[in-house]
Amino acid sequence: MTILRSMVPGVAMTLVLIGGSAALRPAAQTAATAPPATPLPPRPAPAADQSAIQAASEKDHQRLLDLLGIKELRPPVGSDSKSPHAANYDESKASPYPNLPDPLLLKNGKHVTSAKIWWDQRRPQIVEDFDREIYGRMPAKLPKVTWEVASTTPETVGGIQVTTKKLVGHVDNSGYPQVTANIDLILTVPANAAGPVPVVMEMAFSKEFMAVLVRQIPEMDPGSNGPTWQQQVLAKGWACAVLSPTSYQPDNGAGLTEGIMGLASHGRPRKLDDWGVLRAWAWGASRALDYFETDKSVDAKQVALEGHSRNGKAALVAMAYDPRFAVGYLSSSGEGGAKLYRHIFGEPTVNLASVHEYQWMAGNFLKYAGPLTPGDMPVDNHELIALVAPRPLFIGVGSSVGDGYANTRGDGWADATGMFLAEVAAGPVYRLLGAKDLGTTHFPPIETPLIDGDLGFRQHPGGHTPIPNWPAFLTFAGRYLHAPAAPKPQ
Ligand code: GCU
Repeated sequence: MTILRSMVPGVAMTLVLIGGSAALRPAAQTAATAPPATPLPPRPAPAADQSAIQAASEKDHQRLLDLLGIKELRPPVGSDSKSPHAANYDESKASPYPNLPDPLLLKNGKHVTSAKIWWDQRRPQIVEDFDREIYGRMPAKLPKVTWEVASTTPETVGGIQVTTKKLVGHVDNSGYPQVTANIDLILTVPANAAGPVPVVMEMAFSKEFMAVLVRQIPEMDPGSNGPTWQQQVLAKGWACAVLSPTSYQPDNGAGLTEGIMGLASHGRPRKLDDWGVLRAWAWGASRALDYFETDKSVDAKQVALEGHSRNGKAALVAMAYDPRFAVGYLSSSGEGGAKLYRHIFGEPTVNLASVHEYQWMAGNFLKYAGPLTPGDMPVDNHELIALVAPRPLFIGVGSSVGDGYANTRGDGWADATGMFLAEVAAGPVYRLLGAKDLGTTHFPPIETPLIDGDLGFRQHPGGHTPIPNWPAFLTFAGRYLHAPAAPKPQ
């Protein structure tokens, strides 16, 4: 039996790995209370569309419940602490499902004792569980994507001369012309590079949704805290890229018969184990990587992927399923991302299964919001992190208790502890594959980067924003990504 103690501000957590199973429980019963975090609204749509989208999403959600034979789901929680359906922010109540599935235990009860057994037997078992129950299966055959360089513009960003290409990935819709899907991608490369450069690609919110976010969380404003992430990346001699996931897959239940999912299904509704939007967004990230493989100005073997919040979930799914991504930065990915479903703090599973978010997941996922619970899931998201192993992954999050900046309401909804514990519990797989885990099981003090291993973590003192953790991530990524050496002066 291994006992790993981890310190969360004010609360001692104990993660117990007992033989085949891991148990998760708070060691001390001190309550850590975060200020209420407000769940973000669904993506904005024109007012007239909004109610049509809502109605169609509700209908599709109900269709899945009928297929599952479920009468009712447990209600989603909210930020009103007086409501009977308030989110839990009390660490002493966060671990009602103390047993974590062991990533290194085969279904036949035998232990994984070598990297070969991991790759040949155990990893495929975990992938199958995620495919069937959590994120859904990607269709075996998908339409081809043809990349077009729509424009090439020389410009200066943060004092650096760059070339910016606007790219459009046209998805072949000849099999179902009723639907059109294009992947929007912007690639900015330093103009004077000595050879192909690494790329940091963000899975980004649409402009309209960013505007809503910045109104709610001023710290999300890219100009609010020194150089933008793009300027920081370019200053390293690397390229930056911005991918727009909603350009090829809408973010609502009504859109499940549109975008790449609609093209793949010819507009038919999903089966219970068909893919959800997170996998569709991840598919697009892989197509962008296909493009990088054809562009001589960048090195497709050195591509880092970043995403915040729902895009952090998608970035983790992309990294888990596509081994070509070299490094990842998952910011505040929370429930459905790098957090344990079994750690009930901030956003719980019931919200992910609700009509506003269910589209991200497989239909089968809904059953864990009634009658089943997260404790019944065959996997948990430490195993999604383990699917990335041994590749480097950095997890960032804001404060659980909201101290620090003005305008901050904390990032408790994303659950820093749940993500830290997931990373700790993925550690044995990293070690088995010869990589370095987090290096500690103690939750670090705020603003303390853990970036010496192949799993990284940092909690910043602000709210729901990726901005403050960029410098720590770039230091971490700098151990793996290298700009080409400048030619020697003659
Ligand atoms: C909501 C949702 C989260 C998600 C976030 C976002 O708050 O509940 O799961 O991460 O939106 O994407 O901004």
